[in-house]
Amino acid sequence: MTERYATTAGETASPPAAGQRAVRVWLYLLAALVVGMVAVGGATRLTGSGLSITEWRPVTGAVPPLSAEAWAAEFDKYKDTPQYRILNQGMGLSDFKVLYGWEWGHRLLGRVVGLVFFLPLLWFWWRGALTRRLGLGLLGLGLLGGLQGAIGWIMVASGLQPGMTAVAPLKLALHLTTASLILAGLVWLAAGLRPRVGTPEPARLRVTGVAITGLVLAQIFLGGLVAGSKAGLVYNTWPSMNGMLVPPAHELFAVSPWIENFVDNLTLVQFNHRLTAYLLLALALLHALDARRTRPGSGLARRATGIAGLVVAQAGLGIVTLLLAVPLWAALSHQVFAMAVLTMATVHARATRSVTATPSRESPTTPFGFETLAGRAA
Ligand code: HEM
Repeated sequence: MTERYATTAGETASPPAAGQRAVRVWLYLLAALVVGMVAVGGATRLTGSGLSITEWRPVTGAVPPLSAEAWAAEFDKYKDTPQYRILNQGMGLSDFKVLYGWEWGHRLLGRVVGLVFFLPLLWFWWRGALTRRLGLGLLGLGLLGGLQGAIGWIMVASGLQPGMTAVAPLKLALHLTTASLILAGLVWLAAGLRPRVGTPEPARLRVTGVAITGLVLAQIFLGGLVAGSKAGLVYNTWPSMNGMLVPPAHELFAVSPWIENFVDNLTLVQFNHRLTAYLLLALALLHALDARRTRPGSGLARRATGIAGLVVAQAGLGIVTLLLAVPLWAALSHQVFAMAVLTMATVHARATRSVTATPSRESPTTPFGFETLAGRAA
């Protein structure tokens, strides 16, 4: 099926305006930066560096310690944490600097993402390059970004509590899922700037396209729980879990009250991640078969096939990570590849949804910005 761009006048075939292209490039650049943050965040966790900075100073924290005294002061604060006392007694300053570097880099990247978000946002808004809907979407993502910084600090603070040597798994999973929601939001908005006119896709394919994205997000949350509770260090066999396809109920629900098993019981945490992977795999394969049968040779069918391939590859990477008992390279690849799956699924869901029989009503020439407001007032 051919997909053509919608224009304001109601005809088809003209490409998006240069301003809209600039907004799209900006959103994809932001999305790439978010993936970079997820990668550095993963490395921070896997190198055990996440608790090396014991304070949250959103502005002044951008400057790292610059003198020997400043380094000694930071190291002293770290020596006061349970992680140092329980796990890292006797660590030297040079090793501490490596831990600090990862955490500082992760936080610095967060500040960079904030700037790359707000400064161009003001510019585009000033120039009237944003539609009302896009403006509201970006406002929502800005708020989510602020919330993400706060969740990050709440997560770190959970790891500084007496007796803790790592952050709370649920908070880690929430932090990863919020990052993934921001990524999906950016990609959704960017992909929506290319409205396509043609024959609308069948509702079934639109619904399953969105369902795949939702399931990928759920799977990322469950993966965050596996990573946070180190559930990848047990049951290092596949397809069975130490000889059982489904572990017995008394192992799956060993903890009381039962609800806490979903976060605290490594058996159930890993089992849930495996089960959701199989569900996602089945849905992605069925969706691809359906798309190829209903719209053979179309962009929709190619995208759906690509997503099924990515999910198969991601499951393979997850199995390798498990069988090798979580080496850094495999765990990090599995985490970053999850972002690729999510990006592709979101583009696909948005593109499938935005094929309409009539051109989009909200177009780049109904801008929402300072210049428009000024013009109306005049
Ligand atoms: C097919 C879709 C899958 C997706 C989207 C996915 C996604 C994720 C994500 C986002 C994480 C968190 C990574 C981190 O924070 O470091 C994770 C962790 C993990 N996943 Fe998956 N996963 C999938 C399938 C699987 C499968 C089939 C297995 C094995 C049977 C698996 C095994 C693991 C393990 C062992 C970890 C923990 C890694 C660590 O401790 O760093 N995953 N997964």
